[in-house]
Amino acid sequence: MLEYDVVVVGAGLAGMRAAIEASKKTAKVAVLTKVHPVRSHSGAAQGGINAALSPADSPESHAFDTVKGSDYLGDQDAIEVLCSEAPGDIIELEHMGTVFSRASDGRIAQRPFGGAGFPRTCYASDITGLVILHALYEQMLKLGIKVYDEWFVTSLAVDDGVCRGIIAIDLKSGKLEAVKAKAVILATGGCAPVFHNSSNALISTGDGMSLAYRAGATLMDMEFLQFHPTTLKANGVLITEGARGEGGYLLNALGERFMAKYAPNKMELASRDVVSRAEQTEIEEGRGIDGCVLIDLRHLGAQKIKERLMQIRELAMDIAGVDPIEQPIPIRPGAHYSMGGIKTDVHGATMLKGLYAAGECACVSVHGANRLGGNSLLETIVFGRRAGRAASELACSVAGASFPEAALSDEERRISELLKREKGERAHVLRKELQEAANTNLGIFRVAKKMQNCVEKVRELKERYARAIVQDRGRIFNTDLTNALQTGYLIDLGEAMALGALAREESRGAHSRLDFPKRDDEKWLKHTLAYWTPNGPRLGYLDVTMTKWPPAERSY
Ligand code: FUM
Repeated sequence: MLEYDVVVVGAGLAGMRAAIEASKKTAKVAVLTKVHPVRSHSGAAQGGINAALSPADSPESHAFDTVKGSDYLGDQDAIEVLCSEAPGDIIELEHMGTVFSRASDGRIAQRPFGGAGFPRTCYASDITGLVILHALYEQMLKLGIKVYDEWFVTSLAVDDGVCRGIIAIDLKSGKLEAVKAKAVILATGGCAPVFHNSSNALISTGDGMSLAYRAGATLMDMEFLQFHPTTLKANGVLITEGARGEGGYLLNALGERFMAKYAPNKMELASRDVVSRAEQTEIEEGRGIDGCVLIDLRHLGAQKIKERLMQIRELAMDIAGVDPIEQPIPIRPGAHYSMGGIKTDVHGATMLKGLYAAGECACVSVHGANRLGGNSLLETIVFGRRAGRAASELACSVAGASFPEAALSDEERRISELLKREKGERAHVLRKELQEAANTNLGIFRVAKKMQNCVEKVRELKERYARAIVQDRGRIFNTDLTNALQTGYLIDLGEAMALGALAREESRGAHSRLDFPKRDDEKWLKHTLAYWTPNGPRLGYLDVTMTKWPPAERSY
């Protein structure tokens, strides 16, 4: 059996940053990832990473913007950690080799982003995630950190209430392997693909969230799913908020800059929940164009577009057939980011001993009900580093861990049963129905009847999933099998999202209910917790941590 002090699952920004930090304390660190590290979904992050670098800005202002952006659901102690440690982390990233775009005076360039009171989003053109991903991967190579790529984790090994390691399929051989670890860090990204045409890569299937939930860790605030205001209609691919940060306008079919009606002060740079609702309203009230509104960049000029928004220009040309230098791009809101996830403390520790989480799969909670653009990359770095530190400290403080003997054979039996099952439906059919149910019933505007439909649909899918089959019975690179397992993860999470949403009888951030249109701090200034049970999630609630910003009316 393979044995490590710290095993990190996922090699996006949070996972690699965690591994780099853990390796400072112990050499016995491994990263397992179902794709090669530089193909992680972090590479799709375009617009930037926030930090109060300018003397005219401050971590305190950044924290306030984040608290307000979260619609007061973010935990303020965690937000203060995020914002106060941001500048140091950006400088460290730069020293690691991240090639940030530069201002004319040579400093790291920063652009305005939604909901921010100061231009504090550092960027590398519109490929920021990719640039940081490569810098961190170089650091991993330099440090000689062992990477198991194309390994797919199927379960956590838990014994006596402690996480002792993982069980994973080595996709190249198809062999199921046990990996013993004193600490496991999950950094597997989000689960927006519960929805159809999300902005996420196909690999973002909520694996870590579901693995942790099934193993006894708690999920938090799953009902809060962010819709990004600017995604392409055909496939949900992102058009960065940086496009509005650089001065792009949103227009309706009448050529009006409609944000003036919804957010007169911040216009296109209001927070994402506000802009997405405004666009959806324009579309639903008949002022859209073929289910979209437009983002107009023409006035920025060819040079700026080519320099700062080069990737989205290519994406718009390739996917929508539109060159933004010449024409506005049709866009619409699309499922983008999970504000909820595995509940952790500010050191990444989950409710299950030995198990840590960081990045989008975790809920610290710094985003609350609505995340500000540029804070997700920041979260991966700050809390990836912190989780790596805490997990390696735990690993160095405990003697050799035991590993539950039956974990591997139990998992072998479960996978074999799935592979041998003769009759049933293919999992992709179930995934499609899940996504349709989520889009129809759990979208930007929500109402009890529809959410109830969604809950019932997900329960039906869960039953059908227990009888799902895979057609490829082989072991080597069996993507039919991994797709089926991933669909199981998404169904778990869809159920927690729909139930949490139905229960929350208020509107807050991205959770906007037509039947409860107001925020209700008296009853609902609290986090939703979801605990796994054989009959579906059991919900609980937890007070929000407040340090210095009492809830106030939120307008932009
Ligand atoms: O719009 C974007 O570039 C996305 C940024 C983010 O989600 O933080």
